Amino acid sequence: MSKNPNTGVIVEARYSKQQLKEYSGNPLIEALPPIWSFEQVEELLHFYPEHTNEERNYEPHIRFHCVQRLFSYFQPWSTHFDIEQRISRVIRQGYITRNPLNPNYAGDLQRIYQMIKDGNYEFKNSELSKPSASGFTIIGFSGMGKSTAVESILNRYPQIIFHEEYNNFDFDHNQLVWLKLDCPHDGGVKGLCANFFMEFDRLLADKTYSKFAAGRNTTTATMIPRMAQIARRHSLGLLVIDEIQHLSVAKSGGQEKMLNFFVNLVNTIGIPVILIGTTKAMSILQGEFRQARRGSGHQGDLIWENMEQDDDWDLLVEGMWSYQWIQNKCELTKEIKDVMYEESQGIVDIAVKLYAMVQMRAIATGEETINSDLIKRVAKDNLKLVRPMLDALKSGKKQEISKY
Ligand SMILES: Nc1ncnc2c1ncn2[C@@H]1O[C@H](COP(=O)(O)OP(=O)(O)OP(=O)(O)O)[C@@H](O)[C@H]1O
Ligand SMILES: [Mg+2]
Repeated sequence: MSKNPNTGVIVEARYSKQQLKEYSGNPLIEALPPIWSFEQVEELLHFYPEHTNEERNYEPHIRFHCVQRLFSYFQPWSTHFDIEQRISRVIRQGYITRNPLNPNYAGDLQRIYQMIKDGNYEFKNSELSKPSASGFTIIGFSGMGKSTAVESILNRYPQIIFHEEYNNFDFDHNQLVWLKLDCPHDGGVKGLCANFFMEFDRLLADKTYSKFAAGRNTTTATMIPRMAQIARRHSLGLLVIDEIQHLSVAKSGGQEKMLNFFVNLVNTIGIPVILIGTTKAMSILQGEFRQARRGSGHQGDLIWENMEQDDDWDLLVEGMWSYQWIQNKCELTKEIKDVMYEESQGIVDIAVKLYAMVQMRAIATGEETINSDLIKRVAKDNLKLVRPMLDALKSGKKQEISKY
């Protein structure tokens, strides 16, 4: 196993026997890691940073640095298990009908090539073998951990698998298990397509595909079918597009074309797609796009709102609480837990940042302890920018919230 600093993990294919018949005899699936149990997922995903009691006695300017470790703390909870399960399913299911050893494989590639030649950019009346792919969307408030969740799960899968020989037959194939792209800030569809080609080249250490994004005559209409073709040729297991709320500000036409493309990618080309965005993206996912996805056997969408004060919240806050670099240890009382919830409204990003800021303040002022009063003061002074959103959450006005 090697790790290129610019990419996920690159591995050589090792095939493992599959318990399920539908996954057997498919090198793309047999080369994946095993289907993990919940316990394994918890073990693989959590990250508990370094922390020793001795560090509490370090000088303040050193301890400020220790506090930064909080941001690498990662505690999975039920939502993460759900997302991991879905990802594990869509990758494998999507590969079922794209087995390179099936007789239809070459024919399908040929037909995609033909569609491009014919200028059939919408893949109308295409006669590819019936795809088994499905996808889903994750929509939720900013700072809930959507990107972190998906990235940490994807990083447990190799990103590229090199195949050379399968069952004593030559099988020369570069399998790209997943690709994650962010929608550009200007909402430009062309930019997104260009990123797609560049990512492929970067991952495969090649320069072949970037040229599809260059040139004066390049349009989204010419790029989209090429993307489909490349995705198919390299057995792309999963395409993740983050920040899709940016699509909503795109110039007219582009957004629709892109959404159509995502649907086609799943329904016609057979590549699973996960779309991630804030609640702002809700409007662009409704209407026609929703209709188009209906038939695609997709996995149901995941709405990720702020956390309730439930077991998951307790798990997150209790786990985080052991990372203290103040001299007088502060126990997590019910009162403090309530204040943490009140001030963060169950937004993970804010909870973690607030806890870090509280410690920095306690160290800087020499208070060296945490109490609910300090948490409130720090929240008041430091969360000014997100205050309107937090107030909207407190008031429970969902309509208001989507503004932020
Ligand atoms: N499971 C977790 N355990 C601990 N901290 C977490 C966890 N998930 C997220 N965080 C914290 O929350 C921060 C925000 O997460 P992330 O950027 O993934 O949110 P997001 O939902 O993608 O937000 P946006 O919609 O703005 O992109 C992370 O930087 C991390 O500090
Ligand atoms: Mg994000």
